[in-house]
Amino acid sequence: MEIKKVAVLGAGAMGHGIAQLAAMAGMEVNLRDISDEFVQAGIDKIKWSLNKMAEKGKISQEDAEAALKRIHKFVSLPDAVKGVDFVIEAIPEKLSLKKETFAEVDRNAPKHAILASNTSALPISEMASATTRPEKVVGMHFFNPPQLMRLVEVVRGNKTSDETVRVTVELAKKFGKEPVVVNKDVPGFIANRCTIIGSNLVHWMVYNGEYTVEEVDAAAIHKAGMPMGMFGLLDYSGIDIAYSVAKFMEEREPGFKACPLLEEKVKKGELGVKTGKGFYTYPEKKWVPLDLPFEKAEKFDPFIPVYVGVNVAAELLRNGVASKEDIDKALKLGFNLPMGYFELADSIGIDVVVQKLKEISAKYGPFYKPSPLLEEMVKKGELGQKTKKGFYTYE
Ligand code: 3HC
Repeated sequence: MEIKKVAVLGAGAMGHGIAQLAAMAGMEVNLRDISDEFVQAGIDKIKWSLNKMAEKGKISQEDAEAALKRIHKFVSLPDAVKGVDFVIEAIPEKLSLKKETFAEVDRNAPKHAILASNTSALPISEMASATTRPEKVVGMHFFNPPQLMRLVEVVRGNKTSDETVRVTVELAKKFGKEPVVVNKDVPGFIANRCTIIGSNLVHWMVYNGEYTVEEVDAAAIHKAGMPMGMFGLLDYSGIDIAYSVAKFMEEREPGFKACPLLEEKVKKGELGVKTGKGFYTYPEKKWVPLDLPFEKAEKFDPFIPVYVGVNVAAELLRNGVASKEDIDKALKLGFNLPMGYFELADSIGIDVVVQKLKEISAKYGPFYKPSPLLEEMVKKGELGQKTKKGFYTYE
């Protein structure tokens, strides 16, 4: 099946970028949002991005203009999905809204069309259950900004067919992305799941006054190579999005208790870059890289979320959600990190990770106790680089 025409539902931070990728790959794109203003705001962002790419010599001016011409504006959903081969939903992260939208898309899109969701964490299987074609419903999860980040997670719902996964993987490649297949529909999939549980713990530490936002970010940037820091990234991606994911995790993940820090920001309307204020301020509502002094990096151990993330990743591996290579690839490409969590665990030492997790779980609760897979590796003496065998083998 050749994908010639796609519909992207939602022209916001993710939707406009996804529409742009499809147009740059030569497809006709119907971009839909609930008002003319929202669609136009998305088109304006696409124009800016295409110009930036042309300016930087990444694409030619003619290709940029041709891509823009392939994008068509819609407010009516039935009209937007008429005659398309593939639909990508990028509307707000509310499961009830997504299910209603999937049902409406199912009634109006051609029978052969695949329906994908760009959700950050919500269950694909439940969206699929609102349609008459669950085998053609799949997760296609991009990372912000979609134009620049290389990862796409292709998520299988419990009824998604192999053919749907295959076509979606091929489409992600046509968009110039590196797809990773997520075999089980777990909350948060791979990259978000591995980071959100550790991030939430750090939010609690800040909430309880153990560290400041700046101390965490200075350490994350200067000692762990995170490009935007932890709180800077929240501001960049939208605190409201992280908040809705955290609330969903709380609902579905026994033991996960969302820290009120994000909720407080959302209630104040401080959503990050887009509102001019989040954990930092942005007078021009534009991302500005954080300039935090190295001295601030001394207090916080930026590997705390990594130990927790390794634990989450180990459980994903133990439960067959993805291979260790794909889990590491998802983390590196999803967040532009220098190393994947299994690579990091091998270099830190699996015994050290287990010891740290025991300390964390003693202080913050059994939710953080080491995965049986990590305990087993320690028992077998597979401690990582120092024993030449851990998650990977070393010469
Ligand atoms: N389109 C085109 N160009 C863009 C752009 C876009 N959408 N966004 C930024 N640019 C441009 C910038 O304006 C800049 O141009 P300039 O040099 O003329 O000012 C250029 O691209 C970026 O240049 P650099 O490579 O020098 O900038 P950085 O090194 O800072 O890279 C970055 C930018 C790739 C975004 C980097 O900061 C990064 O990797 N950040 C981490 C992002 C991340 O972790 N994303 C995941 C978020 S979580 C998520 O998406 C999950 C979801 O479920 C919510």
